Amino acid sequence: MQWKRRLAIGVLTLGILVGCATTGEQMATKEKSLYDRLGGKPAITAVVDDFVARVAADRRINRFFANTDVPSFKAKLIDQICEASGGPCKYTGKDMKTVHAGMGITDADFNALVEDLVATLDKFKVPEKEKSELLAVLGPMKKDIVTR
Ligand code: HEM
Repeated sequence: MQWKRRLAIGVLTLGILVGCATTGEQMATKEKSLYDRLGGKPAITAVVDDFVARVAADRRINRFFANTDVPSFKAKLIDQICEASGGPCKYTGKDMKTVHAGMGITDADFNALVEDLVATLDKFKVPEKEKSELLAVLGPMKKDIVTR
C-alpha cells in the first residue's frame, strides 16, 4: 500500500506545482492598462497641459490653433488619450477625419506635433515602453489627419 500513498503524494505535489505555475503565468500576462501605467487621469492631464503649451509655442504649427478654445481642446484631448489607453473616460469630440478636414495638415506638421508630445513625455520621464505604446495608439490616426 506504500506505493499508493507515494503516488497520491506525487500526484498532489504535481498538481500544486502546475497550479502555481499557471497562476504565475496568469499574473504575468495580466498587465495593467496603459492608462494605469501612465498614472491615470492626473498624469494624463499634466501631460496634456504641458503638451498644449509646447504646441502653442511651436512656431512650426501654432498658426493652426490661432482660433482654438484651448480649455475645450485640452478636455477633449484628455478624454481621447484616457479612453485610447484603456481608461474609464469616453471621448465625445468629433472623429479625427471630420475635425482635421480642410486644415491642410502635412507630414511635417504631424511630425512637429509628435515631437512636442515626445518632449513632454520625456520631461515627465514616461518610460520608453509606455511612450511607444501611447505613440502606437495615436499613430494610426495620422491617415485621417494628414491631408496634404
Ligand atoms: C495624433 C495626432 C492628433 C490627435 C490625437 C489630435 C486630436 C485632436 C482632438 C481630440 C481635437 C478636438 C476635437 C473636437 O473639438 O471635437 C483636435 C482638434 C484640432 N486639431 Fe488635432 N490632433 C492631432 C494632430 C493634429 C495636428 C498635426 C494638427 C496641426 C498641426 C492638429 C490641429 C488641430 C486643430 C487646429 C484642431 C481644432 C481646434 C479647434 O477646435 O479650434 N491636430 N485634434
